[in-house]
Amino acid sequence: MVTIKTILSKKQKQEKVVCLTAYDYPTACIVDAAGIDVILVGDSAANVFAGEKNTLPITMEEMLYHTRVVSHAVKNALLIADMPFLSYQTSTQDAVYNAGRFLKVGAAGVKLEGGAPVIDTIKRLVEIGIPVMGHLGLTPQSVHKFGGYKLQGNTEESKSQLVADAKLLEETGCFALVLEKIPALLAKDITAHISIPTIGIGAGPYCDGQILVLHDVIGLFNGFSPKFVKQYAHVKEVIEQAVKQYQDEVKKGIYPDAAHSFD
Ligand code: KIV
Repeated sequence: MVTIKTILSKKQKQEKVVCLTAYDYPTACIVDAAGIDVILVGDSAANVFAGEKNTLPITMEEMLYHTRVVSHAVKNALLIADMPFLSYQTSTQDAVYNAGRFLKVGAAGVKLEGGAPVIDTIKRLVEIGIPVMGHLGLTPQSVHKFGGYKLQGNTEESKSQLVADAKLLEETGCFALVLEKIPALLAKDITAHISIPTIGIGAGPYCDGQILVLHDVIGLFNGFSPKFVKQYAHVKEVIEQAVKQYQDEVKKGIYPDAAHSFD
């Protein structure tokens, strides 16, 4: 069983931390059985699962549902739930309450986006025993501030800000830090200067671990695929083929045959 301690010790042992998202029971069973270290119930469920334009619309109730069903599948991985937009920015009290609700449905910790502006909230969560994974760089809940899903940390000012925020998150007690869509050398620098594992997504090869959205990895997504995504299977095509064959066989009276009928 992967614990927070396991994740922290992987950095010391220079072992990569491998993470994937899951939003439902059947895929979470597959990801967990494969031995993936961390399963994140990402708020990317908004776009990927529900077809929204960005992650902002997903609610606490919806994220709790995804977390609960994924938790039924998890036997080995560390299960982390993503705190949705407005579930932690409004007050520390809201954050504590909402993070606690994730733990009640089976998560072992939460992830939330941002640095200095959310530091008091993270401090309180850690103090009361709720493990927190940080998230810096291209934080999708700030898509309107960034004006799109653009590379972050590509100016001297934003680089220094990211390094300072990473340090702050480490000092505040985050057990790991997601770095999204930043230059590889900046991620390398941050990774070398903090003691908690950095988990890259579009942050190059030097992070202590990696995370991707499962649907991107298996090719089951109709939307835009960013440059950093590597597709390891073409599941959409497999499903399309099966659906077409089923339709064809029903129309032609091939299915159901005797083997799939009762006497
Ligand atoms: O919501 C999400 O899936 C994420 C990632 C880091 C993959 O936050």
